[in-house]
Amino acid sequence: DSADKGEYRHFMLKEIHEQPRVIKATMEGRVTASRVLEQALGTDAENLLDHVRHVQIIACGTSYHAGLVARYWIEEVAGLPCSVEVASEFRYRKHVIQPDTLFLCISQSGETADTLAALRQAKQAGFRAALAICNVPGSSLVRESDLVIMTQAGPEIGVASTKAFTTQLTSLLIFTLALARHNGLSEEKESEIVQALHLVPGQVNDVLSLDGEIEELARGFMDKNHTLFLGRGSLYPVALEGALKLKEISYIHAEAYPAGELKHGPLALVDSEMPVVTVAPNNDLVEKLKSNLEEVRARGGELFVFADREAGVASEDSLHAMQLPPVHEITAPIVYTVPLQLLSYHVAVLKGTDVDQPRNLAKSVTVE
Ligand code: G6P
Repeated sequence: DSADKGEYRHFMLKEIHEQPRVIKATMEGRVTASRVLEQALGTDAENLLDHVRHVQIIACGTSYHAGLVARYWIEEVAGLPCSVEVASEFRYRKHVIQPDTLFLCISQSGETADTLAALRQAKQAGFRAALAICNVPGSSLVRESDLVIMTQAGPEIGVASTKAFTTQLTSLLIFTLALARHNGLSEEKESEIVQALHLVPGQVNDVLSLDGEIEELARGFMDKNHTLFLGRGSLYPVALEGALKLKEISYIHAEAYPAGELKHGPLALVDSEMPVVTVAPNNDLVEKLKSNLEEVRARGGELFVFADREAGVASEDSLHAMQLPPVHEITAPIVYTVPLQLLSYHVAVLKGTDVDQPRNLAKSVTVE
């Protein structure tokens, strides 16, 4: 009902704009100015995390993309191996379980049939314990897991997930830091990352203020049938999520590739009819990414680049650069998700699709 949308035209836009607040809410009570409060993850968390040697993440859809980002964090910050798989694959194959594996399910609804089935199987198979990252209190997933981190996104109405995703990432980063503490993370490093996390709500606000410019960029996609999203490192899953958003609500075919794979196929598709979208924070991969962008330009492709304003990517012919505030390398996936949400939203509005209720899709897939 339109009253619930407040000043916004769609729930999706309202939910995109709620992100600074709900990310902050997800941090509340779980981090101090410089540390993670491990006991906030559950009374048994400390003992449990001490024993974890491997993490197996299971999820579907957007929640799966959050898991893919978390793998970069868990391996880099906690130094533990992490595997990620979509629930509908995991549950139908034989798997080798490493000793002391934590089974981590990510789900906005906590009712996704495949994710629940995978959890039930995992409990039979002898995983160390199950942790849920979920947005719905009292859901099946929450009830059936040993440890729970509730995302504080509040009800998400738009079928295309936005604030659930960024609060999942926030929760996953807090979890990673708690786990990393048991695996030799220094207090200094923990404090550096927690401080970076505190900056995220403000940085997301800065990105939201680019809404008008992103709406302009969206015009370049209206009459296109195919798009390519590129990212490197932990920004590759952000590219996957950007492509998913665009196809879900604008019905434009969108694919995401790790930028280094460009030469191994998708470059053959590049021409002026296929816009290429890239997220480029100023990390040590940015120079490599820039040369990927040149490869696209040399083939007549049109580029839309969301880049750190210190990364040295400037607009010119067939390159539309949007300058984003500098962000810490670890928190960049959270902040860089937001311009891609806005881009998809505006493309869908321009195309006149049903933004909040895209055709053929459901908010929660409770049957197989
Ligand atoms: C559906 C929704 C997606 C969501 C996915 C997983 O496909 O449309 O937005 O990411 O299910 O849902 P979950 O509730 O488990 O996160």
